[in-house]
Amino acid sequence: MSDYPVNMDQKPQVEAFFDEATNTISYVVKDPDTNACAVIDSVMDVDMAAGAITYVHADRIIEYIRKNDLDLQWIIETHVHADHLSAAPYIQEKLGGKMGVGEGITIVQDVFGKFFNEGTEFQRDGSQFDVLFKDGSTYKIGNLDAFVMHTPGHTPACMVHVIGDAAFVGDTLFMPDGGSARCDFPGGSAEELYDSIQKVLSLPDDMRLFMCHDYGPNGRNIQWETTVGAEKKHNIHVGLGKTKADFIKFRTERDATLGMPKLIIPSLQVNMRAGAIPTDEAGNPQLKVPLNKL
Ligand SMILES: [Fe+2]
Repeated sequence: MSDYPVNMDQKPQVEAFFDEATNTISYVVKDPDTNACAVIDSVMDVDMAAGAITYVHADRIIEYIRKNDLDLQWIIETHVHADHLSAAPYIQEKLGGKMGVGEGITIVQDVFGKFFNEGTEFQRDGSQFDVLFKDGSTYKIGNLDAFVMHTPGHTPACMVHVIGDAAFVGDTLFMPDGGSARCDFPGGSAEELYDSIQKVLSLPDDMRLFMCHDYGPNGRNIQWETTVGAEKKHNIHVGLGKTKADFIKFRTERDATLGMPKLIIPSLQVNMRAGAIPTDEAGNPQLKVPLNKL
């Protein structure tokens, strides 16, 4: 397909953790040969009505890693999520590992730093993360070879992580009957998302694909795993026969009808800081709610 170093012979073990409150799937990806693992897209629990955060979902992941005596090497965000809050720093504090995100985080920080009227103490250089991935960056999880594909469209910082025969697609694609993610956030683009999806679909047909979200369309049970071949055949937004023009028209019209994700205000403030909670002048954890700006 491409210049990316695809290696279908490596088959990571993938454990999924579904978060019912936000329909997010977090993953522990383990090297079958060693104890090394990575966490992808963790979730912090938030109750906005009560102004309270907890870590029930993240604790399930931590317990799994401890119980199986795994060595956490990476805590990865596929992008700056707008619908759930990351628990990356909480997991890092308990288990170690390097936090990584796409280098486009700086664009997201710039846009939303202004949106939330952040002061100069909020760095817009991605330095809250340990590693900023570029298109084509490679890394290891034990003996597993991983690489990163830049897949903008949903957000400018979106990255698909390909680890052996498993790709973690973030919000580029949903399950075939779910289609694709919205493109109307700042920095989003239906045209770019189409091109990014084609990049994913140029991976081998039997590449396993793991979704970041599933909403169980048409009343089916929640699912999170499919393949490139199945997406090519059956994806309702980009499957066989759909042109780029079809996709852009459909996506743009659909996005215009969507309300804002329930947790967008807290999610962006926390996720643009790599999962850290902002504080007031006295150092107390506090979130802002800019009014009538979205
Ligand atoms: Fe997202």
